[in-house]
Amino acid sequence: MRTDTPVTIRRQNYLPFPYDIATVRLEFDLDPADTQVRSQLEVRRTGEGPLVLNGEDLELVSVQVDGRDWAGRYQVDGDTLTLDGLGTQARVEIVSRCRPEANSALMGLYVSNGVFFTQCEAEGFRRITWFPDRPDVMSRYSVVLRADKKRFPQLLSNGNLVKQADLADGRHEAHWEDPFPKPCYLFALVAGALTWRESRMRTRSGREVLLQVYSDPGSEGKTQYALESLERAVRWDERRFSLELDLDRFMIVAARDFNMGAMENKGLNIFNAAYVLADPESATDANFSAIEAVIGHEYFHNWTGNRVTCRDWFQLSLKEGLTVFRDQEFTADMMAQGLDAQAAASARTVKRIDDVVTLRAAQFPEDAGPMAHPIRPESYQEIGNFYTATVYEKGAEVIRMQQTLLTPAGFTRGLAEYFRRHDGQAVTCDDFVAAMESVYAQDHPGRDLSVFRRWYSQAGTPRVRVTIEHDAATRRCTVTLAQRCEPVGVERLPGAPAKQPFHIPFAIGLLDAQGRPLPLKQADGHEVRDTALLELTTEHAQWTFENIDARPVPSLLRDFSAPVIVEYDYTDHELALLMRHDGNAFARWEAGQQLATRVILAATRERQEGRPFALHRDFIEAWRSVLTAPGLDAAYRARALTLPSEKTLAEHMAKVDPVALAAVRDETLGALGRALADDWRAAVQANQTPGDYSPDPISAGKRALKNLALATLMAGRVDGATEQALGQYDTARNMTDRLSALSSLVNFGAADASARVLADFYERWQDDPLVVDKWFTLQATARGTTVQTVEGLMTHPAFSLRNPNRARSLVFQFCLNNPYGFHRADGSGYRYWASQVLALDALNPEIAARLARALDRWVRYVPELSEPMRQVLQQVRSHPGLSRNVTEIVSKALE
Ligand code: ARG
Ligand code: ZN
Repeated sequence: MRTDTPVTIRRQNYLPFPYDIATVRLEFDLDPADTQVRSQLEVRRTGEGPLVLNGEDLELVSVQVDGRDWAGRYQVDGDTLTLDGLGTQARVEIVSRCRPEANSALMGLYVSNGVFFTQCEAEGFRRITWFPDRPDVMSRYSVVLRADKKRFPQLLSNGNLVKQADLADGRHEAHWEDPFPKPCYLFALVAGALTWRESRMRTRSGREVLLQVYSDPGSEGKTQYALESLERAVRWDERRFSLELDLDRFMIVAARDFNMGAMENKGLNIFNAAYVLADPESATDANFSAIEAVIGHEYFHNWTGNRVTCRDWFQLSLKEGLTVFRDQEFTADMMAQGLDAQAAASARTVKRIDDVVTLRAAQFPEDAGPMAHPIRPESYQEIGNFYTATVYEKGAEVIRMQQTLLTPAGFTRGLAEYFRRHDGQAVTCDDFVAAMESVYAQDHPGRDLSVFRRWYSQAGTPRVRVTIEHDAATRRCTVTLAQRCEPVGVERLPGAPAKQPFHIPFAIGLLDAQGRPLPLKQADGHEVRDTALLELTTEHAQWTFENIDARPVPSLLRDFSAPVIVEYDYTDHELALLMRHDGNAFARWEAGQQLATRVILAATRERQEGRPFALHRDFIEAWRSVLTAPGLDAAYRARALTLPSEKTLAEHMAKVDPVALAAVRDETLGALGRALADDWRAAVQANQTPGDYSPDPISAGKRALKNLALATLMAGRVDGATEQALGQYDTARNMTDRLSALSSLVNFGAADASARVLADFYERWQDDPLVVDKWFTLQATARGTTVQTVEGLMTHPAFSLRNPNRARSLVFQFCLNNPYGFHRADGSGYRYWASQVLALDALNPEIAARLARALDRWVRYVPELSEPMRQVLQQVRSHPGLSRNVTEIVSKALE
């Protein structure tokens, strides 16, 4: 392992590459122990200087230019190969060797389960061959793959298969050509013994395309949902954005070892098997919906990412924020499909809630911590550390705000304009906003998106303070919005520019004392029925509404119209009113979350002061009203009855005491279980889903509510709950029900029953790695699990740190999602974290750096915890040979 000296790369220092590389021909002689790659580049000079190529962990065999040995005219210096003396045009041929089976970092060319895979984004191509490994160098690729035919019968790469032939010694070869110029991060190959499922469809313009999903032999029964999801994604992009599949063949391959979710390589998407393989017995509702979403996401990249790509990695959100937005819209449309108007609206709200929950749990803390960065970062040391919730999820919110400002129809026109201007190019976030702005300015003469652009350059979550004044004499109501956003992350360093106000689309409604919506009439005569979109572009601004008899109750940030934190001093009574009557289902959910947050935070303070816990009657009644109110569907009800997560709650505490918080949250759950036992039992009965399993959102919603009810009854140790859970575990015909029952038993049941079902579960599922992951996760997150439990599980024959899914299922789950076990006052959890970060770093720096982030927010914890956290952070930072990835994370945490 080499030691990296971190170098900071800055967005401002971008320079175009001084050569064009029109074509790339790659010949692979594949062997797990020793693979040879011959690369031929057609190079044309367009600027100044030598040809500098990147390479990592490669053995250089030879360099030729125009057929002549170039020895003496090239140098290798660390990770660069510099060629001098090239003319204006040259054919460069480089032969190199690598060792795929020794590649545990899973970047570049590696072997998983006996199959060759590649992962090139962001900078993995340099681990395959010497090349300008940057997204603005786009070339046409032709690829020849050679390998032993028995061991590697399928040879796949990007584009079209143009030739296949048998060779001597039992080897064979396949020739692939990709007609579209692409950056090297979209290159892919797969070689091995795989099974597949396929279908053919006609695109909108009538071209026939072949869709294929490949996976390991024996898993062919689990790829149907993936293939159907792909078909739905193709149709959706045609309908919603008039974007058609541009290839004759589109392949998805499932890999058991994969660092991330999936990768959009042109025509050959490579996926973490967790986002491909599913059947009712082994996969949960959440798995099915994640598969559809990730398949959609990677497919949508074919336009937003591949046809138009990023100029440099600072522009990552250009493709990721936009593509997450697109996959969110796809999922929302799939959920709403076939439902009547009211049910469809509710389904969309459920999707919106789920996305906001993720944003608040993952992105808000990031945006307030040491790794805070704008969606377009200004600098990085390791780009692999910037595949973040900010670039992805907040990036998607920034796109969504543009849709809100332009309207969906305007946004669609803006996207068409973006492709008209930039198809085939590598561009910047500014280019994207400029295309949207051209439409915005047409529709809103005299206005532009110059203030809006600050969402790309400033980090942090803005806070919007709302004040309401009502004048009974004039029957006017004035709404004042005031924004502020503290400097975060590198913005706190001396010399950083002062922060400017954001352009915040703020959707608002006003309710009367009975909860009825008030028409919103402004002084200029502008009137809307119930929701007004206020555009805050300065530090503060006021809006006045007329004909309002009494002080109204505001319904704020409807549908979460901007990624901000709202500050408004509601009374408990007002929140209860909104929970019952707000016509905006998102804001109605939000009111319940706020009430619960208030209750749990107050109880945590009481507990810290040694006072006993008692749940207020009004809160119980508020929860009962959601549980029993007519007209709400199960999926929505399940969200509205879910208490805010610990991570979200922690953001509201001055000093975080994670164990006290988790305990109070559990006690709240238990108290709700006991107080509303009959209603929860009724919910269990009313939401059974007999018959064949279907992952559709209505059935999934029923299971979500039923299983929430079961867990709440278990948390309350209500009579009969254990029997109910055991019964459900034994008779379940789908994984959602079986796993939920198991989870309730493990977390809230008696030790013997829990041990018995855990053993039974492993016995049944030991041959299915994705289910074994669930088994590890359950134990990693269980109340009662300690470092000792986890260390014991690490000696289980099924455990391996080398497989990222397995490492995530146990090590990450414990460190990130087990407050009781991880945040022990004796510091044992933190010492375990340090040992695992270092162990992983020796294998896979990208994965190690993700685990390193578990202590990002250490300064926010109570001193008894923050001090031991600081110590282990320092211990990791001073470890010799630490990767650049982990160095960046722990150094920023300690800054
Ligand atoms: N572009 C992929 C996506 O769709 C993510 C690839 C990230 N890979 C990595 N090794 N950091 O989101
Ligand atoms: Zn993506």
